[in-house]
This record gives sequence, C-alpha cells and structure tokens, in this order.
Amino acid sequence: RSKVTIGTLRNLYRKKIPIATITAHDYPSGIVADKAGIDLVLVGDSLAMVALGYENTNMLSLDEMLYHCRAVARGSRTPFLVADLTFGTYEISPQQALASSIRLIQEGNVEAVKLEGGIEMADTISTITTAGIPVLGHIGLTPQRSTSLGGFRVQGKTAAEAADLLKSALAIQEAGCFAIVLEAVPEEVGKYITEQLSVPTIGIGAGKYCSGQILVQLDMLGQFEQFAPKFVKKYASNLGTDVEAVGNYAADVRKSLFPAAEHTYPMKDEQETGNTE
Ligand code: KIV
Ligand code: NA
Repeated sequence: RSKVTIGTLRNLYRKKIPIATITAHDYPSGIVADKAGIDLVLVGDSLAMVALGYENTNMLSLDEMLYHCRAVARGSRTPFLVADLTFGTYEISPQQALASSIRLIQEGNVEAVKLEGGIEMADTISTITTAGIPVLGHIGLTPQRSTSLGGFRVQGKTAAEAADLLKSALAIQEAGCFAIVLEAVPEEVGKYITEQLSVPTIGIGAGKYCSGQILVQLDMLGQFEQFAPKFVKKYASNLGTDVEAVGNYAADVRKSLFPAAEHTYPMKDEQETGNTE
C-alpha cells in the first residue's frame, strides 16, 4: 500500500469511494489503523476521555496532544495523519491557531490539523491553509463547545439550523478545508451538505451519504463503556475480553499455574526461546 496523501483522498472522493477514517491515540492503535488499511487517521482530542480518563476534551493540553501524536506517527505510517487542535490553542487569534498548528506539524509529526467551528473560524482556517498546512473542518456537534450547545445534542434538526450548518460548511470550504467532519446531524442534513460541497464530508453520526466515515477507535472496539452515543457501532467488546484475560492471569498467578515450564528459562542454553537473552 502506498502512502495516503491529500491527492489519494481527492481521488477517492472523485471516484465516490467512501473514505475510511478512524482515530488513534498511541503507537499500538496507530499500528492497528495502518495494518487495517485505514485511509485517514485522526489523533482526535477524544483521546482525553477515552484514553486519559478526563471528564471532557477541553482538559487536554497541546503538549499532551503532541506527546500522543508522536506515538501515533511512529505506528501509523501509511494513512494520512491529522491531529486535533486542542481547546484554548486556536480560538484567540488566527496567529495563535497558526502557531499551534505549526507545533502539531513540527513536533507532533502529523500532516494536517483539525479544528472545530464554522463560519466564525473561516479567517483562522484561511490563515492556517495559506501557510501550507491542510485543515480538516469539524461542524455539527462540536464537543469542545458542548457546554454552549447545551450538551451532546444532535445538531441541524430544524430547517434553520440545517441552513446555518450549510452556510458554515461552504464558508470553511472556501477558507480552504480539504475535508469537513460532520458530527451528529440527521442523515438528510448529512446528505444535503455532502451534495452541496466540492470537498469530502467525513461523517460521525451523520448518516450514510457522507463521503467518508469516522469512529473513535476505542469506542468501536468496545474498550470505552462510560459513554456510548447512538452512532457508535461496536465491532468488538475488548474491555470484557481484556478484563477476562487479565483476571485469568491473576487467577493463574495465585494458583501458581503461571509461569509454566515453557515460560521459564533453564540453566543450560538448549531451550532458549524467543529472542529474549
Ligand atoms: O476527537 C475526535 O475523535 C473527533 C472525531 C470523533 C471526529 O473529533
Ligand atoms: Na475532536
């Protein structure tokens, strides 16, 4: 498989092949995404909640994000790699946003940045893209603004709200977004916005007509159970499986069933196993 670039994503869009996108937050989840043939990997700030146990995404610092980006970048080589600008590091001014974006590229080893917001962020997006950094937009339910939105609620449910979303989508496309994440909007709205745009939409809870789909990896693997939006399809139940495996290990240790002979080194060399000296 050759390296996924902006050009690859454009080709998929042109051929109407849905863009398969997922989050990763560390080296092993980056490897999983790469080996599974994912097109675009996002180091989303959802990592705050699903991987770090924070109450919300706004508690994550840019330095923490950078640390995770470097780990993902070491594991995920082929997919196009994007990172979220963290809350508080891009809202003050376009210059602040550009400085933070440069850090994500230079220190985080990602290829593009994502930021939340619509028409009000158009100038900021244009400042970042003018500097040559690709920007992924994010409208609809924007978790960093969930307090203002009155919680994690579906967006664009009225005709007026849907019209505002379209206005924002067109404005941030014009500002240079290479694609736009649409989160938690009715399927009709996802379809309508997708049809009106000339860049791909990446849906999460936005129906099947988007140009691509994204899920949070730990959600879809059934590793994170505290919060389960309707749009999460669970492809595995890893938390249960992992707890059972670790429980079996603990029981084996307590019964002296582990380690067995095959996990144990003899004095002489003839039974050397693996590559551990
Ligand atoms: O933080 C995240 O993982 C995201 C995606 C779910 C779009 O923003
Ligand atoms: Na995010």
